Amino acid sequence: MKIAVLSDIHGNMDALEQVLADIDGRGVASVLSLGDNIGYGAEPERVVQTLKAHGILSVLGNHELAAKNPGFLGWFNPAARKSLAMTFRMLSADSMVFIAGLPDYRVMHGCRLVHGFPPDSPTLYLFQVLPEDRQKALQDLPERICFVGHTHVLDLIRHDGRKLANVAFNEGANRLDPALQYLVNIGSVGQPRDGDPRAKYVIWNPVESTLDIRCVPYDAQAAAAKIIAAGMPGEHAHRLLG
Ligand SMILES: [Fe+2]
Repeated sequence: MKIAVLSDIHGNMDALEQVLADIDGRGVASVLSLGDNIGYGAEPERVVQTLKAHGILSVLGNHELAAKNPGFLGWFNPAARKSLAMTFRMLSADSMVFIAGLPDYRVMHGCRLVHGFPPDSPTLYLFQVLPEDRQKALQDLPERICFVGHTHVLDLIRHDGRKLANVAFNEGANRLDPALQYLVNIGSVGQPRDGDPRAKYVIWNPVESTLDIRCVPYDAQAAAAKIIAAGMPGEHAHRLLG
């Protein structure tokens, strides 16, 4: 059984459409999202309704946390705050109910899904956590695989029970050692920050113990133009172009 994991779609319907088209026909049994489905992009309502229509389960991202709890808006920089205030006005009551119901983490198919850092933080960035604290967090997890997003860049960390090691994580199939534990940052569908404008997501095959990094080209110019046309902060449009 293959599982597709997406993160940080960020209201980018152009990217999400191409990612869903890429998933089609690959024998994927389940599609999951690590949150930050909204914010920055011009089509948050279409993104949330598409997740609902496809039965894509999600966890809470920091942008959804701000939708649930406006007091959290102070955590963001001014451009992100402005984008979120506009995003909230674009969301239907139905989508706000969906967002309010998102859990901090999920455990499914033997893996943990959390937006920021395990066990359950939607706000903590992987790069903020000291190596010894990363190891402690992984030691405390019963799951062998933990998927995170939040930084918008790909990262693969292997844990052999004694120490952590960053390992190469490249486009295409990456083989995992079934005996080891992994922390996997799957990058971003709709707001990549790795200098490559293509949408990133992964397909996990637990039987073959592989992680396939998919890098999907899409019309980033169109997505950027929608952000500008909506009057949302231009920096979130320019970043889409790499
Ligand atoms: Fe994000």
